[in-house]
Amino acid sequence: MRRILRLSWRLAAVTAFLLSGPVVAATRPTLTDQEVEQKVTALMARMTLQEKVGQLTQVGAFPGMDPEGTIRKGGAGSVLWLNEPEKFNALQRVAVEETRLKIPVLFALDVIHGYRTIFPVPLAMAASWDPAGYERAQAVAAREARAAGIHWTFAPMIDVARDARWGRIVEGAGEDPYLGAAMAAAQVRGLQGPYPGAPGRLIACAKHFAAYGAADGGRDYDPVYVSEGQLRNVFLPPFHAAVKAGVGSFMSAYMDLNDVPATANRFLLRDVLRGEWAFPGFVVSDAFGVANLVTQGFAADGPEAARRALEAGLGVDMASNTYGRHLAAEVESGRLPLSLVDEAVRPILAAKLRMGLFDAPFTDTSKLAEVLEAPAHREEAREAARRSLVLLRNEDRTLPLGKDLGSIAVVGPLADSRMDTEGSWMVFGHRPAAVTVLEGIRGRAGAGVKVTHAPGPEIRREIPSMFEEFIPELKKPAQPPEEAEAAFRQAVATARDAEVVVMVLGETAHMSGESASRASLDLPGRQQELLEEVVALGKPVVLVLLNGRPLGIEWAAEHVPAILEAWQPGTEGGHAVADALFGDVNPGGKLPVTFPRKAAHAPLYYARNLSHQPEGSERYRSRYWDGPTTPLYPFGYGLSYTTFAYSGLAVTPSAIAAGQAATVSVDVENTGAVAGDEVVQLYVHQRSGSDSRPRRELKGFRRVTLRPGEKKRIDLPLGPDELRYWSTARGAWVQEPAAFDVWVGGDSTAATRARLTVAR
Ligand code: BGC
Repeated sequence: MRRILRLSWRLAAVTAFLLSGPVVAATRPTLTDQEVEQKVTALMARMTLQEKVGQLTQVGAFPGMDPEGTIRKGGAGSVLWLNEPEKFNALQRVAVEETRLKIPVLFALDVIHGYRTIFPVPLAMAASWDPAGYERAQAVAAREARAAGIHWTFAPMIDVARDARWGRIVEGAGEDPYLGAAMAAAQVRGLQGPYPGAPGRLIACAKHFAAYGAADGGRDYDPVYVSEGQLRNVFLPPFHAAVKAGVGSFMSAYMDLNDVPATANRFLLRDVLRGEWAFPGFVVSDAFGVANLVTQGFAADGPEAARRALEAGLGVDMASNTYGRHLAAEVESGRLPLSLVDEAVRPILAAKLRMGLFDAPFTDTSKLAEVLEAPAHREEAREAARRSLVLLRNEDRTLPLGKDLGSIAVVGPLADSRMDTEGSWMVFGHRPAAVTVLEGIRGRAGAGVKVTHAPGPEIRREIPSMFEEFIPELKKPAQPPEEAEAAFRQAVATARDAEVVVMVLGETAHMSGESASRASLDLPGRQQELLEEVVALGKPVVLVLLNGRPLGIEWAAEHVPAILEAWQPGTEGGHAVADALFGDVNPGGKLPVTFPRKAAHAPLYYARNLSHQPEGSERYRSRYWDGPTTPLYPFGYGLSYTTFAYSGLAVTPSAIAAGQAATVSVDVENTGAVAGDEVVQLYVHQRSGSDSRPRRELKGFRRVTLRPGEKKRIDLPLGPDELRYWSTARGAWVQEPAAFDVWVGGDSTAATRARLTVAR
């Protein structure tokens, strides 16, 4: 691992190896579908059973694994956890020169929110409510990663997540299937371009199929129990959207779904994915997922695990080598038909052919440094970070900061941390190079402003993260208590000496992500205590949050005059935050996830069903008798330095027949003094039907920029796609005659209402 890291630091110095000609932009593969099929058939006719199993085996470049030896034997079709451009070409040479059939390998890596230029974490990108921006961001990520020799990324992660305790909530688009589907499709378009693995692009992978975000108790990897209605209405729509956008691959999830492991879940992989959605690509397990089938108490041993996963429709075994060890024997003994192996191998060979890897298997890295250092990529990352900022509170116009400030104290453990600014899920071997919030403020404040800094006591996980276990550089001894105490006092003193205090608090990069669930949503460590002492000084305080999940900031929401949610904003994060603090940019993002008051309220989401004592009734508020039931901040919420007014809501026509579409129109006006962005959101509620339906569901949105005084009419379609749902009672998709409430506004509590009737 350390070697991997060391070598990849040298990325920029790598000048290698030129084989293919210049990259030609292509909108479709050079081979037609028919030619691809013919070539696959011809190749398969020459393959031994072991060679076929090799294509279904993904080998890791981890200590104890031997990618080179495995490839040489024809035992691997793809490689993961390697990030060394020169090594890619060397391994590819083994594949195409030393193996019998010369089949190239695919290099796969988790390029989640950037390769060298790191974009805001996915939850932040969703807060932009800007699919076109997300598409551009992932196109940059693809361009950089492909230039380094990567073919396949394990992104987008499109698990709907409604439980703020779950660490992986940071990797997805939040709680809503409609927003999630829009962001999933945008990411697939950005990563893949015109087709999976087009020049300068990657093969994308929709993960983790499916419902991984609904883990019991928000505990990562724990089982999931959801009804078919919830599965189809809530958790599957982003995956279906990814298929419609042409995603090349899928990854199965780790956990049991209704007692059947997702890795060997025939209903998910065969009935839904291949059957209903006609997905033509391939499915990879999550890491070690096939071997896990034994741990899960599903398969008795490795041979059974291999057989049942393949039977269920799982194509590639990631890293566990269970297929490599057992599949051939299962076929030879007659327990598994060869046709199932063939069926799994075909889409993998087809993908390699479409990418042109048989003709041009190597990566020309001579221009790599140029691609990775492209100023346009930094500019895109800065714009993405700006658009993901959510202004949660701004009493007395604390923000933007005044022009005549003499001094600013920037306080908190995250204020000057590159890694925590870039955030969760960094590419293997990447060295964080983010502009921190402190640097951003220093750069923008101007020579006349004194900017001081104190980090306060460090924050750390009680149990080390998965990444700390793998990457020794991340392991640091804990700060001794007396040092922490001195840091605390220093932080308060620094705040006392300044006119304005910017507190940069939240979670470190590895406090969210995989294996990073929490039982509390409080600010970890002594941050809350520090915040309270600093606020008690009586100065204007701005809280900038860097975090990968909703935090329980109930106290801050009442006592800190300004709160800016900056998430983990990536390489250009510090610049973007400074842009907003000084008013060069007006924050316009909106929460893609409900902020509960505390962990005990999770899962909390807006699209829940009504019940006895519905909301609005006095008693609703007492779902818990020991505190309010309402969210701290609702889904879709976010303020601006300006204000917006809605008027003229109309649904045209206001009555339609099932199958027809109506248009929802509204005027939105900037009623303040500065330009700003509003995210116009459309929610519906079906008043009666075969099943009870959620009190509100997002069914349309548009982010618009308005000058002061400017008014725009926004039209949003409302048709069969938006009005249908999977009925658990009827076991089918239905669009029913019913009355619908329609709301449009700036968050999920929008009050402007109209009515749509769907007639029989
Ligand atoms: C994660 C996946 C990831 C894979 C490969 C697993 O632990 O769950 O999201 O793609 O590792 O790194």
